Amino acid sequence: MTTFHSSSREETAAWAENYAKQLRPGDVVLLEGEMGAGKTVLAQGIARGLGIADQVTSPTYAYVNSYGGILHHFDCYRIRSERQAYELGLYDYFSSGAICLVEWSENIRSLLPPDCKVVRIERISDTEREITV
Ligand SMILES: Nc1ncnc2c1ncn2[C@@H]1O[C@H](COP(=O)(O)OP(=O)(O)O)[C@@H](O)[C@H]1O
Ligand SMILES: [Mg+2]
Repeated sequence: MTTFHSSSREETAAWAENYAKQLRPGDVVLLEGEMGAGKTVLAQGIARGLGIADQVTSPTYAYVNSYGGILHHFDCYRIRSERQAYELGLYDYFSSGAICLVEWSENIRSLLPPDCKVVRIERISDTEREITV
C-alpha cells in the first residue's frame, strides 16, 4: 500500500489525474471514504487524466453517469439492495470494457467483479486528506 498526503482539493484531483495513467479498459476502481472525503473529486481527476473534457458531477440521483463509452461513474449511496442494483442493470456496466469508478460499493458488494482496484481517501482536517492505494 502507498499513501499520498493531499493538502487541497486541487492536489487530490492532480494525484487522481496521474493515477489514471495506470488504468486500463475494463478496470473497476472502488472509491472508498466517508461522505465529503473527496471520492467525487478523485473521480473528476481520473476523468481528466483519461482525457474526458466533460464536467464530472456526482451521480447521486442517476446512480451512474457515463462519459463517451470510456468511463462510468457510479454513486451507490442510495441503492437499497443488491437486487435493486441488479434490476437497474448496474451489473452490465462492469463488463462493458469501460473503466468503472464506484462510490459506496459496499451497497453492491455481491455484484462487483473479483479483481477491483481500491482507492481510499480519508479526511484528516478541513483541507487535508490521506489517499491510500
Ligand atoms: N484535500 C482535499 N481533497 C479533496 N477534497 C477536499 C480536500 N480539501 C477539501 N476538500 C473538499 O471536500 C469535499 C469533497 O467532496 P466530494 O468529493 O463530493 O466528497 P465525496 O464524493 O467523498 O462525498 C469538496 O467540497 C472539496 O472541496
Ligand atoms: Mg461523491
